[in-house]
Amino acid sequence: MKTIVVYYSNKGSNKYLAEKIAKTISCQIDEIKPRLNIFILFLMKIHLGIKPLKHNIKEYDRVILCGPIWMGRFIPPLRSFVKKYNNKLNKLIFVTCCGSTDAKKYEKFGHGLVFREVENILKDKCILCQAFPIGLVLPYDQKEDTDAFMKTHLNDENFKGEIQVIFDNFIRKLDVTIR
Ligand SMILES: Cc1cc2nc3c(=O)[nH]c(=O)nc-3n(C[C@H](O)[C@H](O)[C@H](O)COP(=O)(O)O)c2cc1C
Repeated sequence: MKTIVVYYSNKGSNKYLAEKIAKTISCQIDEIKPRLNIFILFLMKIHLGIKPLKHNIKEYDRVILCGPIWMGRFIPPLRSFVKKYNNKLNKLIFVTCCGSTDAKKYEKFGHGLVFREVENILKDKCILCQAFPIGLVLPYDQKEDTDAFMKTHLNDENFKGEIQVIFDNFIRKLDVTIR
């Protein structure tokens, strides 16, 4: 099974996660580069698409797409990737390091709603969605603290405990996902 990790990251957590997945399963990695990488413009829904990727997506059986969630949305750079490469995609797994917890995943800004959207766009090409809520690396009393999670980014120091367990389970799931 040939797999590639494709990611977009603004503050680094999804880059860290993407690189960790690629290193763990020894696969290729590629970065989504928006033509205009200006964060505030994304929030204003001004987006000029993405630059071509370095790898030929068609060659891969599985793409692991990794990137953040903003304002409860499947964000423009990831959406552009899916739009641009949909006819070259075989199977896709969507992974996000986001702010919303599993307990709140179906609330207004929750990742569960974005997962539904990704599944709707890709239908049965989407075989798995997995969240890595940033609160997992925060102390117990800060897990729901928006200010704390906005300032926290994944790194080698904090990637341990609960998030590591979820990561290991995710890697195990990759071994058994439908071909
Ligand atoms: C403007 C903004 C809006 C956000 N909105 C959401 C949201 O609606 N739901 C969510 O789960 N996380 C939200 N987040 C948290 C990000 O998904 C989280 O910080 C993510 O790890 C950032 O990834 P990056 O470091 O790769 O850029 C938001 C972050 C920012 C900066």
